[in-house]
Amino acid sequence: MSFHAVIPAAGIGKRMGVDVPKQYLSLCGKMVIDWSIQALLNHPGIESATVALAVEDDIWPTTTSAEDPRVESVTGGEERSHSVLNALRSLLQHVPEDDWVLVHDAARPCVLEQDLSRLMQLADQGTGGLLGVPVHDTMKRTDSHARVTATIDRNRLWYAQTPQMFRLGLLHGALKNALAAGVVVTDEASAMEWAGHFPQMLEGSASNIKITRPSDLQLAEFYLARQALA
Ligand code: C5P
Repeated sequence: MSFHAVIPAAGIGKRMGVDVPKQYLSLCGKMVIDWSIQALLNHPGIESATVALAVEDDIWPTTTSAEDPRVESVTGGEERSHSVLNALRSLLQHVPEDDWVLVHDAARPCVLEQDLSRLMQLADQGTGGLLGVPVHDTMKRTDSHARVTATIDRNRLWYAQTPQMFRLGLLHGALKNALAAGVVVTDEASAMEWAGHFPQMLEGSASNIKITRPSDLQLAEFYLARQALA
């Protein structure tokens, strides 16, 4: 069984309010994206990484991952889903469609090796799935004036994280068809759900955060320092 990483990294990270895209911010002596890619490539079961980049990205060549022979780069697309689709299309040119891909956000630097292993074990049963954490807070829906209109039952609600792991050919087909049908695809699992599959949710770690706001960098520093001590 073969596993490959796919890293969508073509976002410009508007919510951070900084000039540098969030995946290129500095974190504990490396760039965020280098932590994310190396977390996957350090796993002995993962053979390669395909990174989707924005056009005219002149920071990528300065990363350490750009020099890694296991890493290939492709051009990303308008939305995350288009970026992932471009990477899958490129992989399909030299990898069997039954191989597994782990799609992982470039801005999730703290994913744990043991969680990757547990996710990859799903492949033994031929099942695709994703890491996530259960919702513990009370969930509210509001109207356009932020007035609460409903309380959502949080029972069996999850925050979806990455990696999200599926067979290369199946995910490529599901994403391509969902996008052609005009479906809004915010993660890989939603394309698979749309295609009639039932991705397996696997409880991961709350430390697998996505760098979104400036304060997330401090939290990521804390988690990486803790991992280094473990
Ligand atoms: O913006 P958001 O945090 O949802 O982005 C998640 C991941 O998708 C990031 O790693 C980002 O670089 C990537 N992305 C992409 N192509 C886009 C938009 C986002 O690869 N067009």
